[in-house]
Amino acid sequence: MTDKSKQDRVLIFDTTLRDGEQSPGATMTHAEKMEIAGLLDDMGVDIIEAGFPIASEGDFAAVSEIAKNSRNSVICGLARAKLIDIDRCWDAVRHAAQPRIHTFIGTSPLHRAIPNLNKDEMADVIHQTVSHARNLCDNVQWSPMDATRTEEDYLCRTVEIAIKAGATTINIPDTVGYTAPAESADLIRMLLERVPGADKIIFATHCHNDLGMATANSLAAVGAGARQIECTINGLGERAGNTALEEVVMAMKVRNDIMPYATHIDTTKIMNLSRMVANVSGFAVQYNKAIVGKNAFAHESGIHQDGMLKNAETFEIMRPEDVGLSETNLVMGKHSGRAALRSKLEELGFELGDNQLKDVFVRFKELADRKKEIFSDDLIALMRDEAATGEGNHLVIKSLQVVCGTSGPQTADLVMDVDGVEKSAHATGDGPVDASFNAVKALFPHSARLQLYQVSAVTEGTDAQATVTVRMEEDGYIVSGQSADTDTVVASAKAYVAALNSLVVRRSKSGGTDRKEINYKDVS
Ligand code: KIV
Ligand code: ZN
Repeated sequence: MTDKSKQDRVLIFDTTLRDGEQSPGATMTHAEKMEIAGLLDDMGVDIIEAGFPIASEGDFAAVSEIAKNSRNSVICGLARAKLIDIDRCWDAVRHAAQPRIHTFIGTSPLHRAIPNLNKDEMADVIHQTVSHARNLCDNVQWSPMDATRTEEDYLCRTVEIAIKAGATTINIPDTVGYTAPAESADLIRMLLERVPGADKIIFATHCHNDLGMATANSLAAVGAGARQIECTINGLGERAGNTALEEVVMAMKVRNDIMPYATHIDTTKIMNLSRMVANVSGFAVQYNKAIVGKNAFAHESGIHQDGMLKNAETFEIMRPEDVGLSETNLVMGKHSGRAALRSKLEELGFELGDNQLKDVFVRFKELADRKKEIFSDDLIALMRDEAATGEGNHLVIKSLQVVCGTSGPQTADLVMDVDGVEKSAHATGDGPVDASFNAVKALFPHSARLQLYQVSAVTEGTDAQATVTVRMEEDGYIVSGQSADTDTVVASAKAYVAALNSLVVRRSKSGGTDRKEINYKDVS
C-alpha cells in the first residue's frame, strides 16, 4: 500500500462558479452560488474561482461574500489584463483569509490580433498587470489564454515575464479544447525545462472538452509536472465544458498505482455537489456520464448482475459509496418528522433557519402525501423549487387547473401573483403545457423565446416527480428555470415561471458592467 502522505499534492482549482457559470443559460442566483461555494469548501477544494468581479454588480457581490465566508479554500477572482479589473477583483477577494487574483490575456496569434498588440506591446501589458496584481496580493495566478495555440518561444517569454513580475501560479489554458494528451504533457515539460524560475512556481492545467480529451489532457499535464488542475463539477462550462472535477479526482484515486498524486478532496461529497450543480444550472447530467451519471454504477445485463452478486469487483472499479452514492438513497416518508428533515437537508448541504424549515416541512408533507417514498433527489428538487417559484418571487403560481384529453382545445385556468397582485387568466393551447404557458403569458406578457423544454423523472416509478427545465432567450440573454412536481404540467408551468423570474432579475440588474458587454479580448 502506498503512503499517500508522501505523494505529490495536486491542487484542485474549481471554476464552476466562473467558467462553469459562463455556459449560456447556466446563470446562478446569489443564494445558489453561496450554497455551492460552501459545499466546495467543505469538500476540500483548494482554490475556488468564485467569479469575475468586474463583470457585474452581482458577480462582485457573490465573490465578496464567498470570500468573507470561506473557511479553508483560497478564494480567487478573475480579471482581464486591465488595472481597473485587477483593482475590482482585489476589492472582492481581499475579504478572504486566503485571497488570490487571477489575471489573463490571450497570447496566441489570433488573440493578439484582437486588441491589435504586437508581441512587445503585449509583453509590457503582462509585466505591468501582473506586477500590479502582485502589489495588491501575495497570491497571483496568470494565464496566457489559448496557450496551446501560442508559439512556444513567445509562450516561454510571456511566462518568464509573468514569473518575474510576481505570479505564483502559471495556468496553461487549452481554451478551445484543441490539444491532445501527449502534447499537453510536452507543453508543461517544455515550460519547466526552458523558463527560468519555472521550478519556483506552480503550473496549472485548464482544459476544455471540445474533443472529449479534457480529463486525459489534464492528467497528462500532471504527469509532466503540473500541480494544479482547473475543473468544474459535472464538467459544466461553455460549449463542451471544462475538465470534470469528479473525473480527474476519481482517476487519481482509483489509478493511484500509475498516477501517484494526492488531493484533499473528500470524494464522498461528489454526488451531492453534482446533483446540486445540475439542479441550479439547469444542465442535467447525461445518464452515462463517468462517475456521476445515473447509470455509472448500474449493472443491467444478466452477466454483469451475476458477477456483481458473486464479487462486486468483477465489474466495479470503485464503490458507489466512494462518491457518496448510498445503496439506496431512500430518505423519508410521510411519517418522518421535522428534525429528521432538517438533518437530511443539512447532509445535502441546505442550512435552514426555523421559519424556513417550517415552510419546507409543509411542502415536504404535501409531497409525501402524493408520493410514497421521498429520495434525496426529491428533497433537492423541492428545495430548488422553493427558491425559484416560492413566495418572494415576482411571479408566484397560486393555482392551475388544466383540461386535457383527446379532443381539444386544451385549456388552462391560472391564478398567479404578479408582483404581489393576484391575477387570473383562462387560455387555450395546443396541449396542456402550451395552454398553461399561454395563461402565464396572458398575465405576464413578454417577448422571450423558448429555447429548450425538457422533462425528466427525478426518481423512478409512476408517482415520481417530473423535473422540467425551460431555457429562454431575450435580447441575447439566456435564462433558465427548473421545477419538479408529481404533475408534469404543473412542473412545466412552474419551470416557465422560474425562468421568467430570472428574466425579471436579469432585466432589473442596474449599475456595474454587464457581463454581456465584457469582452475577454478587450485589454486596451
Ligand atoms: O479557457 C480559458 O482560457 C479561460 C481563461 C480565462 C483562463 O477560462
Ligand atoms: Zn476556460
